[in-house]
Amino acid sequence: MNPFVYQKSCSGDSFCYRKDELIQINKIITQRENIFIYSKRKFGKTSLIKEFFHKNVDKNRYFTFYFDLFGITNFVDFVKNIYKHIALNLPEDYHLRLKHLKDLFARASFTAIIKDNGELEFNPVLNSYNLDELLADIYKGLEKLSLQSGKKIIIAFDEFQQISNLKESKGDVLLRKYIDKYSDVRYIFTGLKRHLLTDIFSKKYSSFYNIAQKLELKQISKEKFYEYVDKRFKNKLSYELFERIYDNTEGELKLIQEICYHLYYVSCIKKNEILTSEVVDYVYNSLLESKNEYFKLFLNQLTMPQKIALKAVVLNNGTELYKKENLFNLQVTKSSLNTAIRHLYKDEIIDKENNKYYISNKCLELWCKKAFL
Ligand SMILES: Nc1ncnc2c1ncn2[C@@H]1O[C@H](COP(=O)(O)OP(=O)(O)OP(=O)(O)O)[C@@H](O)[C@H]1O
Ligand SMILES: [Mg+2]
Repeated sequence: MNPFVYQKSCSGDSFCYRKDELIQINKIITQRENIFIYSKRKFGKTSLIKEFFHKNVDKNRYFTFYFDLFGITNFVDFVKNIYKHIALNLPEDYHLRLKHLKDLFARASFTAIIKDNGELEFNPVLNSYNLDELLADIYKGLEKLSLQSGKKIIIAFDEFQQISNLKESKGDVLLRKYIDKYSDVRYIFTGLKRHLLTDIFSKKYSSFYNIAQKLELKQISKEKFYEYVDKRFKNKLSYELFERIYDNTEGELKLIQEICYHLYYVSCIKKNEILTSEVVDYVYNSLLESKNEYFKLFLNQLTMPQKIALKAVVLNNGTELYKKENLFNLQVTKSSLNTAIRHLYKDEIIDKENNKYYISNKCLELWCKKAFL
């Protein structure tokens, strides 16, 4: 089996151990504080939470719940997601679990179905459409669960910036109310670095101001990640070649895993041979080529000024976009470029660090470099 994972978050055997971060999360949680983990895209936030919940947390002391807020667009999605995941994580078999759910919650009833892959799914049917009431019900249920089991609750809200989609229904304010009211529950929030700088946790007017300690998740060091990769390649990938991959991708874990995933198949065919730079280049270029259709389709969905803006970021390495000469080369006005850049930033297609713009999706950035340069 291929030991590299890039399609989903990883934990367990495929997780490159992040000892310091796991110790820190544990320390913050046991000190009865909350934590906000932030990083660039695809640096391993979700994987870190999953690893913490699966392997590091003391299961005799804590009940853990993981909520992915990625797809939520309104408060109904939000509460359903919460009910559903609580149901999924209760320990009993499904008969007893349905009974237990009935005992815990008054504002939702549940049906259980077995999916095609054999997994159980619990679907909540809400009998209230008042968010305050629903949150009160959820928190009361969690408190009851905590008392029954003698365990404290830890909740992970992944992609927490999505909470801003609940502003209209005052969901953010209400959630803060219950976070304060049930102060025994601990939280792990995640988001992109930019959300730290923008509103959620840092601005005084935000509902979540000062609610959590912050932890920036950086790249895994080259040396440490090489150890992980080398073991899986059984010494067939030299440090120098790995270093090239790492530097090219700027240490983005997902892309390194994706390249290694494809390289692994080649290494299996080549049996005991050491991998050469030609093979690595071939795999790397084929990977970018395989994205042609997908990325072209994506570019076609952008407006012309946005396409130009993306090109400007790539051609100018993210800096001095508005320099006369650069504007002239792209035949664009400053105001049109400025508007397009703002749109791309808002849609998280590009991001900014140390006054330098970059494309958030590293693979797209490398593909654009090939296409535009
Ligand atoms: N500790 C790790 N060891 C090995 N690979 C990892 C590790 N953490 C993450 N990865 C790789 O990176 C990919 C992205 O990880 P993950 O989804 O956890 O990142 P993320 O920061 O949550 O991404 P996003 O910004 O999209 O939410 C995973 O598919 C996995 O291949
Ligand atoms: Mg994630």
